[in-house]
Amino acid sequence: MIAPELQESGGEYRVIAQRSRDDREGFWLEAAARIDWSVPPSAALEERSETEWRWFPGGRTNVCANALDRHVAAGRGDDTALIYDSAMTGTRARFSYAELRDRVARFAGALRAVGVAAGDRVLIYCPMTPEAVIAMLACARIGAIHSVVFGGFAANELAVRIQDAKPRAVVTSSGGIEPNRTVAYLPLVRSALDICGGGASSVETVIVHDREAVPGSAADYAEDREIAWHDWASLEADAALADPVPMRSEDPLYILYTSGTTGSPKGVVRDSGGYAVALSWAMRNIYDFGPGDTIFTASDVGWVVGHSFIVYGPLLAGGTTVLYEGKPVGTPDAGAFWRVLSEYRAKILSTAPTALRAIRREDPELDALAGYDLSSLRAVYLAGERMDPETWHWVNDGLRVPVVDHWWQTETGWPICANPLGIETLPAKAGSTSLPMPGFDVRVVDSTGRDITAPGVEGNIAIRLPLPPGALLEIWGSRQRFVDSYLSAFPGYYATGDAGHFDEDGYLFVMGRTDDVINVAGHRLSTGQLEEVLTAHPAVAECAVIGVHDDLKGQRAAGFVTLKHGETVVREELAGQLVRLVRERIGPVAAFRDVTIVDRLPKTRSGKILRKTMRQIVDGEPYTVPATIEDPGVVDALIEALAATVSAPATQTVAVPR
Ligand code: COA
Ligand code: AMP
Repeated sequence: MIAPELQESGGEYRVIAQRSRDDREGFWLEAAARIDWSVPPSAALEERSETEWRWFPGGRTNVCANALDRHVAAGRGDDTALIYDSAMTGTRARFSYAELRDRVARFAGALRAVGVAAGDRVLIYCPMTPEAVIAMLACARIGAIHSVVFGGFAANELAVRIQDAKPRAVVTSSGGIEPNRTVAYLPLVRSALDICGGGASSVETVIVHDREAVPGSAADYAEDREIAWHDWASLEADAALADPVPMRSEDPLYILYTSGTTGSPKGVVRDSGGYAVALSWAMRNIYDFGPGDTIFTASDVGWVVGHSFIVYGPLLAGGTTVLYEGKPVGTPDAGAFWRVLSEYRAKILSTAPTALRAIRREDPELDALAGYDLSSLRAVYLAGERMDPETWHWVNDGLRVPVVDHWWQTETGWPICANPLGIETLPAKAGSTSLPMPGFDVRVVDSTGRDITAPGVEGNIAIRLPLPPGALLEIWGSRQRFVDSYLSAFPGYYATGDAGHFDEDGYLFVMGRTDDVINVAGHRLSTGQLEEVLTAHPAVAECAVIGVHDDLKGQRAAGFVTLKHGETVVREELAGQLVRLVRERIGPVAAFRDVTIVDRLPKTRSGKILRKTMRQIVDGEPYTVPATIEDPGVVDALIEALAATVSAPATQTVAVPR
């Protein structure tokens, strides 16, 4: 909701935003009528305390039934629900709503047969194949809570999530396909389970989807709890089709882990009713999307964008969603997205700015567009990182459709700010994520939590409590961690961790994070977590990891390390070891390659490493060295070390090849 001091009269959006503020109950109950409830809610909001609330109390619903059965019952069973397009294998498949419902009901029946019940967790570690979507919806059908883990995370990260979520079952695949290699998932799951104590872990069953395209055969699945795909198919055939289980609105639909400020990721808990209502509202009003429409969200089911806008949002809305296994470039070329859009007559493209920068780098003149008919395309939606104005203009001019830069987080589950094309097309401004959506009372506060919202005033972006439907209810396993992580910094507000300002029209400009979270190719990483890995190396005394500017990926992680006294290491070797360590412990997704070995790190007299100053120096921005610095000479030495990167003396700064 737009802050009162920034409001202007007029405009359909502003009328709706005003109504959502003046009549919150009425507004959200009306939105709730978009989904089917087996027991309708008694109210929209129940505020249990300042930091605890629930949406649609008393309501019972099933998200899978709303995503599938509802449309079949309405006579749209033959409409296409899901299109699978793999640029990696050339496979194409279509699933109608009726087919997808049956596949999901069978999978859910088999999950039950292996003992998975409502409230149990199921971890899904799969590539972008329909089985991932089917497994997610099957969990939702029987009230099991899924937790999807992105394939680019290593066994260690998988183990951390298994230890936290304690899943009863894991659904995985023989492998994923990256342009330069195949990624065998099962060995990663096995080593994650070993890290978790082998048989002592919570996991009773590992279901392994055998992909023809990826070597790995049923014969390999010798271990006790593993079920090979053909055996799973027999289980599915024998089990009764599972009917949807009515769940309480507040019951968790899924847990999605995201990076926080410490090494241990936070399990964002999403409810069922609030999420379904929020997504239904968003699909219609933000994306102007409904039955008969097709959306191509180029992301991954391991991220929130995949959960909300590959899987749940489009299916709740009764449209068609495209599941694309491939990259924006190189699979086979920079026309890949245009091919998919034209082949399936998609109305919407949703992706991260990085993907467009990758296309622009390969095909600046958009020559590849020439071969494709994009007349069905109505809008491009971008999220996951800041959209640089230059690329925004390039897309806008090249595709000649509205480009919506919208801002949201794993935690919120749907856009906080957007241009709601389903209501009206507001004038777009490059660099801005447009206006707050209903339910999000967005403010700019200072470090003490004082509301300083006013045009042009920069500060911490915070959202007045309670958060709207669809946003996280808590961190899995710890309400206190939820309060400590998000609600304590500015009492009465949710701290987004982002900084920015409004302009005179109430448009929000999100400028960057205030914590140590960085965004690498739209993937959220914690520099604190990377530092924990680097300091685990026996030769490293201290380190600082900062997010520096990257033309393609927006940001990349750059590590600066000092050596323990008396350590004699070959510096290039050390850098290589550190890069490998990050890949082993966190995964290739960290895309960590830059290591600079320095004698000392710049610090204040109280011992705080001047990470911001370091980042400014690396990015070539103006910087001020704080008066409290321990030794100003360290900054000069750092600059020297960085300059050395350019002239590349092998013994000082090492850029490590892949
Ligand atoms: N499973 C296993 N490994 C994966 C993976 C997956 N699902 N996805 C990525 N990786 C690996 C890549 O293969 C790469 O490994 P490498 O170091 O061996 O080459 C590494 O993780 C880094 O991947 P990425 O950051 O994606 O870089 P890239 O150079 O492979 O591709 C882009 C660059 C821009 C093409 C790519 O980042 C992209 O398509 N981005 C779109 C943004 C996006 O989808 N964001 C999600 C949030 S909305
Ligand atoms: P994630 O939880 O991975 O979706 O990452 C959320 C973070 O990505 C936000 O807190 C922002 O820092 C950043 N982000 C997402 N969308 C945008 C956007 N449109 N503009 C600027 N930053 C964004």
